[in-house]
Amino acid sequence: MRKLLFTTVLFMTAFADGATASDVEARIDALLARMTLEEKVGQMTLRGFSSRSKNDSEVFEEAVRNGRIGAMLNVMDKSAADRLQHVAVKESRLGIPLLYGRDVIHGFRTIFPIPLGQAATWNPGLVERGARIAAEEASTYGVRWTFAPMLDIARDPRWGRIAESPGEDPYLASALGAAMVRGFQGESLSDPTSLAACAKHFAGYGAAESGRDYATTNIPQNELRNVHLRPFKAAVDAGVRTLMTSFSDIDGVPASANAFLLRDVLREEWGFDGFVVSDWDSVRQLQIHGLTANDRESAFEAVTAGVDMEMHGDAYSEHLEQLVEAGEVSADLVDRAVARILRTKFELGLFDKPYTDPRDLPPIADTNALTTARQAALQSVVLLKNDHHVLPLYMEELESVAIIGPLADAPYEQLGTWIFDGDPELSVTPMHAIHALVGDHVDVRYLRAMENSRSRNTDAFDEAVQIASESDAVILFLGEESILSGEAHSRADISLPGAQAQLVQRIRETGKPVVAVILAGRPLTLTNIVDLVDAILFAWHPGTMGGPAIADLLFGVESPSGKLPATFPRMVGQIPIYYNQKNTGKPPSPDTIIHIDDIDTHAPQLSFGMTAFHLDAGYTPLFPFGHGLSYAYFDYQNIRVSEAEIGLGESVTISVDVTNTGDIAADEVVQLYVRDLVGNVTRPVKELKAFRRLHFRPGQKITVEFDLHTDELAFYGRNMQLMTEPGQFHAWIGGSSATELRTEFRIADNN
Ligand code: NOJ
Repeated sequence: MRKLLFTTVLFMTAFADGATASDVEARIDALLARMTLEEKVGQMTLRGFSSRSKNDSEVFEEAVRNGRIGAMLNVMDKSAADRLQHVAVKESRLGIPLLYGRDVIHGFRTIFPIPLGQAATWNPGLVERGARIAAEEASTYGVRWTFAPMLDIARDPRWGRIAESPGEDPYLASALGAAMVRGFQGESLSDPTSLAACAKHFAGYGAAESGRDYATTNIPQNELRNVHLRPFKAAVDAGVRTLMTSFSDIDGVPASANAFLLRDVLREEWGFDGFVVSDWDSVRQLQIHGLTANDRESAFEAVTAGVDMEMHGDAYSEHLEQLVEAGEVSADLVDRAVARILRTKFELGLFDKPYTDPRDLPPIADTNALTTARQAALQSVVLLKNDHHVLPLYMEELESVAIIGPLADAPYEQLGTWIFDGDPELSVTPMHAIHALVGDHVDVRYLRAMENSRSRNTDAFDEAVQIASESDAVILFLGEESILSGEAHSRADISLPGAQAQLVQRIRETGKPVVAVILAGRPLTLTNIVDLVDAILFAWHPGTMGGPAIADLLFGVESPSGKLPATFPRMVGQIPIYYNQKNTGKPPSPDTIIHIDDIDTHAPQLSFGMTAFHLDAGYTPLFPFGHGLSYAYFDYQNIRVSEAEIGLGESVTISVDVTNTGDIAADEVVQLYVRDLVGNVTRPVKELKAFRRLHFRPGQKITVEFDLHTDELAFYGRNMQLMTEPGQFHAWIGGSSATELRTEFRIADNN
């Protein structure tokens, strides 16, 4: 069988001064030969300020001078960064430069949509361009290493970090993760605008029980390999230079001490040759997990498992030397870790160009950055519903519009989580953008109505109703402020917070057309408001240029084209709910379910379907993965396969005719799903296997073809070997995972 997805692509490195890989290896060996054990441990130590504290380089100068620090994070004062780098290069014994890291997650100064929003674009090229711009901006501050992309599969919207994730699907996450790696790392790491990327959090962090951040995970190895590890493998194949361990544990062993993950899978199976960094203090936390009794044991567990660098914490700096001297940790193991770190510094060109000269680097938040951010925001917004074509709003038909809600004019809140360096002053809010777009044509009346999204104060609601009643249409800007998602910001109730649902109810009573624009860091349960509004544009936290993108969509300058990267549940009790679930032995169907209100008193146990559903929620989500409407209409017809039967190692082409039957030009994301009907382990009911974002003119028909190789149908079976099994497959193409347009093909048994 051809090894397709699972062969490591050698990362081609061009070194800054034209040196070859073997020159660099020789320089690494020469350095290692001169380094003391203390200096080696120094290279394995990442120190920095917490993101909130003020930089104070003096605290670290002595340690840098003595070679006790190899890398730093959150040093965002350029002069402090240069001063410390000067100490490292000129005043430390071996002159090894520092590597500066930072959480450049969805932009630096120019903020792009949160990663979950970027995932809704289903546009790897655009995501790559966003990461490139973030790298260019961050590198002007001396940052050469970003702690991104986050590749944790997230199937629980209660988890605050779903905002930072690529969503629920391993294929989409792999495509977008690889794109981010390419964008951050650029053509060559030695380009001064390139950042070393860091795929995190290896692995399984997104499966935190009940979505409570940092909580235990329970992931069977089969699911670990078929779901959670796949985007990391894709990032390794794309040449990612570093990985970060997860705070969580796998099978009782925290990731920062997990030799199965870090050695067996990452290094031996995948051949990863970059370095592994712990998460913030996660080496010392091994003791808090109850895996070790003290920091010395934690250092031992982490370093022998394969953590090359400790982020924050003192376990390595205080105990690693002793562990080597006592013969408990081999000197060779330390040398290999240090070599990996030094190699990355060479690849980044830091030995030759340790300082940043902003004059050599691109401008910040320039037109290109802002235009790309606007494009990303535009493509990330998902039109969830649009009854009676209430959208787009036509300026010529409106005299007035009411803009109501806490998130219409909130420059900071539209940026979302992880925006240490983002500048809210650059934000163009929806309110400003709508004003600019409609000019004098439409009378815009604005009322915030709530202090923030959590407010329970309804005092301003009468005025809101008054303004709404006097306007031709109402646009409500609802959702979550930034602080309600992100790290350690999980929620148990993911409906609209505060009094927002009451506000919607009051506005509905005016009888005016109501459009809800929802800004949020996660899928929300919208069941209590979905029928009270005519249309919903779900805009995530759209970033700096969210306002103009939303205005263009509201007024039909552009058509919505985002598609959901995660399922929207009807209610929290359905979680986890995701499209690529297993069939079970008792799958539900419309005729085997009943609603709790329809059950007869004393109904016998077997009187309605004995299948997998909830009496009060059924089994379908409110909005499925891949869903997203348009102002155009897309008609999918004539799905077909090139061959009814192929052999292992061959490809089948699955095609469909897609026609824009609407009267406006628009993008559509065409999606291919497959089901392997019989496997040696149970297989998902549908799996995304390919997608394509295409632009359609009105009336245009495009025949879309997807080539699918049998290696792309491989999965880890009972013996944990990656394999494609012969047999029957169903294939669907459509505009969401709920598509029913199906064909089938067979993989023949070659024997
Ligand atoms: C902890 C987070 O889990 C991680 O994602 C981040 O990169 C580090 N802190 C550094 O800020």
